[in-house]
Amino acid sequence: MTECRAADHPAPDSDAGRAWNLPDEAATAALGVRLASALDEGLVLYLHGPLGAGKTSFARALLGASGVGERIKSPTYSLVEGYAAGARPAWHLDLYRIADPGELEWLGLDALSDPAALVLVEWPERGRGALPPADLELHLAYADGGRSAVLQAITPRGARLLQRLR
Ligand SMILES: Nc1ncnc2c1ncn2[C@@H]1O[C@H](COP(=O)(O)OP(=O)(O)OP(=O)(O)O)[C@@H](O)[C@H]1O
Ligand SMILES: [Mg+2]
Repeated sequence: MTECRAADHPAPDSDAGRAWNLPDEAATAALGVRLASALDEGLVLYLHGPLGAGKTSFARALLGASGVGERIKSPTYSLVEGYAAGARPAWHLDLYRIADPGELEWLGLDALSDPAALVLVEWPERGRGALPPADLELHLAYADGGRSAVLQAITPRGARLLQRLR
């Protein structure tokens, strides 16, 4: 497994959030792998950050390390891609091209509500009301040529996962 070179920093609120510096793409991927290692139940993760912040890089690493064997495409055009992450259903959404959450109705997103599912959503604010609520939110930002990341727990399930994250 890739060693994570991201530096740990105490988050502003250590009960609900943790922060990292991600100097390069390998560090982004390594954090995704670490999160996958800590997963032992379903998860809804919202991925926030501007264009090019590393949301897909993180999602690819997380899905790959969760047991998705096939190539992980960017869902920029398809909006949603479905996978099997071992025994767990996994969904990767990119809602950048959605102007109104109502546009998501035809996608039949009921499957996302399976409590066992791993659900990763880029640009989740564009699907507000049509998505299951987040357990955990990742905030990526540009910083010093690399990126900064904050993981924030929203639900008890998200908080348990954050606590298990090594
Ligand atoms: N920590 C990092 N430092 C520098 N570059 C990074 C880092 N993490 C990812 N990148 C690079 O940033 C670029 C954009 O990554 P990615 O496509 O994952 O962004 P995104 O947030 O999904 O963008 P979009 O909003 O367009 O979907 C890629 O070239 C990737 O290699
Ligand atoms: Mg992306």
